[in-house]
Amino acid sequence: MDSIIVRGNGPLKGQIPIAGAKNACLTLMPATLLSEEPLTLTNAPRLSDIKTMSQLLGSLGAEVTSLQDGKVLAMSSHDINNHVADYDIVRKMRASNLVLGPMLARLGHAVVSLPGGCAIGARPMDLHIFGLEKLGAEIELKDGYLHAKAPNGLKGAVIELSFASVGATENILMAATLAKGTTVIKNAAREPEIVDLATCLRAMGAQIEGDGTSDITVQGVDRLHGATHPVVTDRIELGTFMLAPAFCGGEVELLGGRMDLVESFVAKLHEAGIDVEETDKGLKVARKNGRVKAVDVTTEPFPGFPTDLQAQFMAMMCTAEGTSVLEEKIFENRFMHAPELVRMGANIEVHGGTATVHGVETLKGAPVMATDLRASVSLILAGLAAEGETVVSRVYHLDRGYERVEEKLSNVGAHIERVSE
Ligand code: EPZ
Repeated sequence: MDSIIVRGNGPLKGQIPIAGAKNACLTLMPATLLSEEPLTLTNAPRLSDIKTMSQLLGSLGAEVTSLQDGKVLAMSSHDINNHVADYDIVRKMRASNLVLGPMLARLGHAVVSLPGGCAIGARPMDLHIFGLEKLGAEIELKDGYLHAKAPNGLKGAVIELSFASVGATENILMAATLAKGTTVIKNAAREPEIVDLATCLRAMGAQIEGDGTSDITVQGVDRLHGATHPVVTDRIELGTFMLAPAFCGGEVELLGGRMDLVESFVAKLHEAGIDVEETDKGLKVARKNGRVKAVDVTTEPFPGFPTDLQAQFMAMMCTAEGTSVLEEKIFENRFMHAPELVRMGANIEVHGGTATVHGVETLKGAPVMATDLRASVSLILAGLAAEGETVVSRVYHLDRGYERVEEKLSNVGAHIERVSE
């Protein structure tokens, strides 16, 4: 297993290119199942999760060809010859459950393993099932697999989600494109990745309105055609690297960064005393002077503060001036980075979904362990600010969601290297 060694750093300077969004690509890829014609994605991120999704689609009979060093994914699901999404693949990545809606809509049946829990929570699929059943699917849980069928095809319906679930919105939206009649998804997720999916589906001939708001309306069509679609910029990678200069000073320009993707996050950076300005290439971030200020944060569905940036923000609050209270409202167990940061000298108290961070002057480098994707990168950022050397182990978590972190950070002056054990 690889580890990453980070040494405390002086100010960072330079540019970091931001890749296409993992969480957009993971829902855009299953959309290929909705049409017999080819779907090509450009600006795709080069991540292990994308490889896992390619493997899953391949197991169903789709063809996924990676071009231009992985930045282009040419897909075709003309010959789907298997409708079972196997536990071995699904357990590795929850987003595998996003083949359920498209397979049901295209084939009329699907067998998809329940993903099982993961480090950050139980992550049930009740809302996915609720929505697809409203569209007329019959879904039964047997031996850990969801057995879904829609013998008479899917029929449009009004679906009110009790929680604005991203994955449930995506599964229902994809299925509704081929359902007979009109579907309205109420309390739909509003994330930019939903808008990106709807944009791609419209390019394939789907009739969708209201994406990006809480009410999405879909007029079902008989079939979808092929398309080429650019994956939207990754707002979580963007937010993560915007924090780098906050940890060790300096000024960094995030190429391809878009302010509209990170507005609530930027508002909190301003409160903490960090300058963000728009340039013609993206976003430029600089720490004005000295220590950042402590800021309270509550994670919410978009457009609120993203749960996927909570760990990174907590790491920054460890050396802030004052005390910060972070409330994690989306997942039930997303503070596993806290004890690792405490090993580096942070002063953090966790009670249920609330973490209180008392800022300390400096962190001390230490051997720490990555526990999940976003926690792993928060430990690397903390290592940038710490005195001495930090060794982050189990970085396979990191490679799921970040393209060559050590390369991007060392290009702006960070002392960081990957070692294989
Ligand atoms: C997506 O997960 C993202 N993953 C997550 O990013 C992100 O944290 C999350 O949305 C919230 O923004 C992908 O897009 C691949 P949800 P998803 O359905 O769709 C509960 C990362 O680090 N829930 O909005 O699984 C669920 O347990 C990952 O890139 C139900 O109870 O998120 C959770 O507590 C981590 N029943 C909450 O809702 C359901 O049927 C949010 O889940 C579905 C969800």
